[in-house]
Amino acid sequence: MTDSPHSDNVEEALLEQIDRENLPKHVAIIMDGNGRWAAQRHLPRIAGHREGIKSVREIVTVSRKLGIKALTLYAFSNENWNRPMKEITQLMILLERFLNKELKTMMENGIRFRAIGQIDRLQDSVAKLIHSVEDKTKDNNRMTLILALSYGGRTEILDAIKKACTDIQKEKLSIKDLDEKSFSQYLYTKDIPDPDLMIRTSGEVRVSNFLLWQVAYTELYFTKTPWPDFRKRDFLQAICDYQGRERRFGLVSGEQDH
Ligand code: FPP
Repeated sequence: MTDSPHSDNVEEALLEQIDRENLPKHVAIIMDGNGRWAAQRHLPRIAGHREGIKSVREIVTVSRKLGIKALTLYAFSNENWNRPMKEITQLMILLERFLNKELKTMMENGIRFRAIGQIDRLQDSVAKLIHSVEDKTKDNNRMTLILALSYGGRTEILDAIKKACTDIQKEKLSIKDLDEKSFSQYLYTKDIPDPDLMIRTSGEVRVSNFLLWQVAYTELYFTKTPWPDFRKRDFLQAICDYQGRERRFGLVSGEQDH
């Protein structure tokens, strides 16, 4: 996770423009377009994923430097299980390499690692590695990097409903106490604030089953740039765009205290 060698005047100007007091606390990203990026270059899809990892490193680095507290990346959806086995295997190898390689950087930079999703559906060795990196980084508190893996928003909500129902049956929870706040505690993201900003790369304008409960009041930012080309400058641009918006949370202008 090192700085891009291409920092230029545009980046400098964007950095100056960003108000450090008004940063999104949590940014979630749908990293889309790796396959198309590769196809345009007549390369195999895996080349797009490999280049995408470079974007991951750059965006983690800039987020940490800016002081963003949580960054969630959609790395593998429930639907991605339907991809050819070869691509799934390659993605899992990239994930293992990423975790093994970046553990040191996460420790040096106070980054806590978390995975959300049905982690037990992943290959045993991958699930073990994930749990071990979660454990080793659990006391880091500068930023939380969350990877959504084998993740689906509807499944997350159903899993939460099942857990809440079990607690109701066991009389650990009463129906009258089940509200938005207590329900949130059954989600995979239980101790993480809802995202303030969600970014999707590569031109699709939809949420694709990502953090469905949590995006109720999230600002959405869509860009045509494919994920492998989405770097520091593009991220800073998204933050500036976010800071130019007025968040009303259903209230009238000037009334909200968020
Ligand atoms: C979408 O591109 C991307 C993914 C399905 C996975 C994202 C994965 C990475 C960036 C690499 C692995 C990440 C980590 C953190 C180890 P796509 O394949 O859907 O692209 P397309 O829509 O153009 O086909």
